Amino acid sequence: MPSDIERLRALSGIKWQRYGAEVIPAWVADMDFPTAPAIVESLRAMVAASDFGYNLTAFDDSIPKAWAEWSERHFGWRPDVERTKVFTSTLQPISAALMVATEPGDGVLLFTPVYPPFYGIVKKAGRRLVEYRLEESEWRIDAERLRSAIDVGTRAIVLCNPHNPSGRVFDREELSAIAAVAEERDLLVVSDEIWQDFVYTGARHIPFASLGPEAASRCVTVTSASKSFSLGGLSCAVAHLGAAVVAEKLAALPPHVLGGVNALGAHATLAAWTHGDAWLAETIATLQANRDHVIARLAAELPEVPVMTPEATYLVWLDFRGTRLAPDPAKFLLEEARVGLSPGPDFGTAGKGFARLNFATHRELLDEIVDRVVGAVRSA
Ligand SMILES: Cc1ncc(COP(=O)(O)O)c(C=O)c1O
Repeated sequence: MPSDIERLRALSGIKWQRYGAEVIPAWVADMDFPTAPAIVESLRAMVAASDFGYNLTAFDDSIPKAWAEWSERHFGWRPDVERTKVFTSTLQPISAALMVATEPGDGVLLFTPVYPPFYGIVKKAGRRLVEYRLEESEWRIDAERLRSAIDVGTRAIVLCNPHNPSGRVFDREELSAIAAVAEERDLLVVSDEIWQDFVYTGARHIPFASLGPEAASRCVTVTSASKSFSLGGLSCAVAHLGAAVVAEKLAALPPHVLGGVNALGAHATLAAWTHGDAWLAETIATLQANRDHVIARLAAELPEVPVMTPEATYLVWLDFRGTRLAPDPAKFLLEEARVGLSPGPDFGTAGKGFARLNFATHRELLDEIVDRVVGAVRSA
């Protein structure tokens, strides 16, 4: 076990707390690495100075500017600072955009299986789930299939790119197909790009709104530094409100209804997007090596559990359908092998028989996780 294990076990976050000391967690998308020094220093300076008053970053455009520069540097797309608003999480503007730009009963298309909270955002708002089920063999989006999935009542698409849980990075052809269909049917596109930074050699993240002015004008792009720098508990995200209807309707809401960002989250985000490039590059290299290691071990030791090599994210989507661990392998693995993966069925009906493994951890822990999974399948 790594020397870091005591720090990890003592963390107050859900990843290490939910299942107790016997279990090695590999579920929720948090990384186990210590935070980037630039972020720690920024937070430490605030704590040392008791700098917790009403914060300037809640009132100025420093976060939208820092994101615009980050996005231009990394993806060649400069979001419009004026159209970028700060939110408390990535999910908040997804939910808010659908609430203001669609009506109860309207269809919202998801590419499934997908990040579980998307389902609640659609269903609890009284919107209707419209599904495009991605095929596990290649996870591609096809224009004709998309046209036939969309019915007359569909008003919006929520895209997750890079895609959680598959790790696919949709290419220009696929994104252009979405843009073309969205234009034909006059749909809002909400593009969740929170995984934008963890893209490995050979793939490239293309922001949906960078496709051109028409795509940008019907898109809400949401993202955050929270995934790339493991700041989920600090609650700070941004949304580029390219779709005028969303920008106008959110601006017309009563003041404070969406809440505001907190000072620690704001400063951590600013430090990440201003000084985090080198730390992130090192982290991506570590994750790419972890990905290759876990894929090689699974291919050699568990050929009956197929996996696609993720082009992005630090997640692997394991197909246990050919084993006795299905239909809910994560439940079996938690009870029998004391390892905590994310249950595939949480990602929709397409997730039955699957589980998601988070490989953003120290190599010794990753090997222990894989050992436990392999042992469970062997003894099932
Ligand atoms: C696709 C996706 N969107 C949103 C989130 C959560 O982001 P936030 O905590 O900023 O709402 C996650 C977290 O794993 C995610 O995978």
